[in-house]
Amino acid sequence: MKYHIITHGCQMNEHDSERIAFLLEEMGYEPTAQRDDADFILMNTCLVRENAELKVYGQLGALKPWHDEREGRILAVSGCMMQTGPAQETIQKKYPQVDLVFGTQNIQKLPELIARHRATGERVFDTTPVEEDLAAQYRKADHQFAYVNIMTGCNNFCTYCIVPFARGRESSRRAIDVVREVERLAADGTKEIMLLGQNVNSYRDEDVDFPALLARVAEVPGVERVRFMSSHPKDLSDALIQVMASHPNVERHFHLPLQSGSNAVLKAMNRKYTREQYLDRVRALRAAMPEIALSTDIIVGFPGETEEDHRETLELCREVEFDAAFTFIYSPRPGTVAAKRVDQFVDAQTTARRFQELLDVLYPIFARKNHEAIGQEVRVLVEGISKNDPHRVSGRDAQNRLVHFPGDERLIGQMAPVKITEAGSFALVGEPLFETSTLSAKR
Ligand code: 5AD
Ligand code: SF4
Repeated sequence: MKYHIITHGCQMNEHDSERIAFLLEEMGYEPTAQRDDADFILMNTCLVRENAELKVYGQLGALKPWHDEREGRILAVSGCMMQTGPAQETIQKKYPQVDLVFGTQNIQKLPELIARHRATGERVFDTTPVEEDLAAQYRKADHQFAYVNIMTGCNNFCTYCIVPFARGRESSRRAIDVVREVERLAADGTKEIMLLGQNVNSYRDEDVDFPALLARVAEVPGVERVRFMSSHPKDLSDALIQVMASHPNVERHFHLPLQSGSNAVLKAMNRKYTREQYLDRVRALRAAMPEIALSTDIIVGFPGETEEDHRETLELCREVEFDAAFTFIYSPRPGTVAAKRVDQFVDAQTTARRFQELLDVLYPIFARKNHEAIGQEVRVLVEGISKNDPHRVSGRDAQNRLVHFPGDERLIGQMAPVKITEAGSFALVGEPLFETSTLSAKR
């Protein structure tokens, strides 16, 4: 029996897909990259933007022939999108090929849901949350990198965002469970840990807040690098900056979603910080760690965004000089406050122009900053063979930059010292600072 998983959206979903893969493998399924070979296909969905949602329906349509071709094949759908009534209803009515629907808070029930479907032949829709330890303890063999959930949900209600409706309120995992999981992963050889939460800075377990938890995780023996996602600028404390600065194995990268550089738009988004406060946090990060790389998320065309608001975003981007950015065109999401401001929607042509203007500001800065990296010596955690060149491997450095360099599969999972020799807008090229003959075999 083989399974294939299609994941849309963010790291939270990537991690949920890993947990689902683990459960399936415990049931005796094996992974396959070929959809046609699979007996079980899962689509893990995202609903943050409308186009992701439309893509799900397109793919489900395209999977009907696969599903109907052979008796017993199972098509399952999970993820944020399944947390909303309308999406469930659409699937119920228009996509009979879907056998199983479950939510982000009942992943652990998957074996039971599959068994129920097999026994009755009926479609199973179950998104009721179960009390779960967020980790759903699992361990993938030969894995140099691991996601670790520390909290779920979000209490912020940014006016464009559907996440708080889908993923519910914030809930933090026990610190002791997080640390134990990291200890076990490190003992098994995991080198890099990514702490995950919709809003990691809101983490709290009694007197353990996020900076305290980060310090404990970074101090677990064997943990070579710690990363975390995501942070809200309003909650980025000096204490967190201190912990990062005093722990060299915490990544020298901070993802700090800006969304807009205009105070009026930030207010309308309910972001609870101003451009001045954002800049203050950037200065504090750089004062403590001059080498830190900054990345961000920006939304263009929020309802009511004027030419002046847009200009302020461009100006702030020039001032901060981000190292990387995810850029989005505003997409109205049902039930959110911003989606009701229909009379203030920015027309598609203006939005497209503003989006291009934003890229025209951002990309030359990425290219210049990458160029400045030439000559630097960095440590790359090798993830795999480079997509475009079988004689190179690639991975990320402590600043979260993608680095390619000559090597082979023996390097996968190693933390390799590399000297940067070339730079593009989105990736770096380097040469190994070690003798290839001294390489140990892959774990
Ligand atoms: N429209 C466009 N972008 C959005 N994001 C979240 N909701 C929307 C929306 N309705 C973006 C934000 C967030 C990122 C994960 O997705 O920039 O930080
Ligand atoms: Fe959405 Fe804002 Fe919460 Fe992020 S902080 S998940 S953008 S509501």
